[in-house]
Amino acid sequence: MRVIAINGSHRKGKNTAIMLQWVLEEVATANIETELIELTDYKITSCKACNFCLRETDCNIKNDDMMAIAEKMFKADGIVLGSPVYFTNVTGLMKIFIDRTRWMHMCRNMLRDKIGAVVTNAGLRNGGQEIVLNILTRFLMAHGLHIVDSRNPNKGIYNIGATGTVFQGLSQENNGINWKKSIREDNLAFKECKELGRNLTREITLRKISSNS
Ligand SMILES: Cc1cc2nc3c(=O)[nH]c(=O)nc-3n(C[C@H](O)[C@H](O)[C@H](O)COP(=O)(O)O)c2cc1C
Repeated sequence: MRVIAINGSHRKGKNTAIMLQWVLEEVATANIETELIELTDYKITSCKACNFCLRETDCNIKNDDMMAIAEKMFKADGIVLGSPVYFTNVTGLMKIFIDRTRWMHMCRNMLRDKIGAVVTNAGLRNGGQEIVLNILTRFLMAHGLHIVDSRNPNKGIYNIGATGTVFQGLSQENNGINWKKSIREDNLAFKECKELGRNLTREITLRKISSNS
């Protein structure tokens, strides 16, 4: 069993990557293989809207790294997407990636029935996290994935995915904002990521058991 996480942040290893690692670390405790894919490490060119994917289960653009990422997606049982909020939206990099997956579902839903999960974080407390969760979730649902949320099954209801903020509070001195040093100081984000990882693990394991029986 294998779970990959795809980070759309333009900053490698920072807040979004930390949240995705929290999810993957939880998944790895169940002996599931994991991999974090930083989109900044890959060359992904924009969709040209040539509509080749309306006729073929393929993409006309061959001179970039999108196929390498696609192979990893096909091999995975679970896919976790992460993007920080940029102007109440996903990052430009994540959007370019999203558009380039069109061929994976226009003729045939190649990612159908995989398990999906999403994480985001923003500078502000209400900086657009819920909008980004919705964008990422709807994208995965368009590809036929089943979404797990960050709810603890026994108590409380959290988000459809995991959210974080680096907002710390208002600064008395200059009427400005104090920021957390990193998302590591957001313990609710940590808790939601762990729940997401647990729910992802449970869903993947149950599906494996039922497909083997
Ligand atoms: C271009 C740009 C746009 C941003 N837009 C928002 C925004 O609309 N709302 C918000 O709260 N934070 C916004 N931020 C802040 C980031 O969401 C925040 O710094 C986040 O923690 C970055 O994640 P990373 O560490 O994975 O790069 C923006 C940052 C950048 C660079």
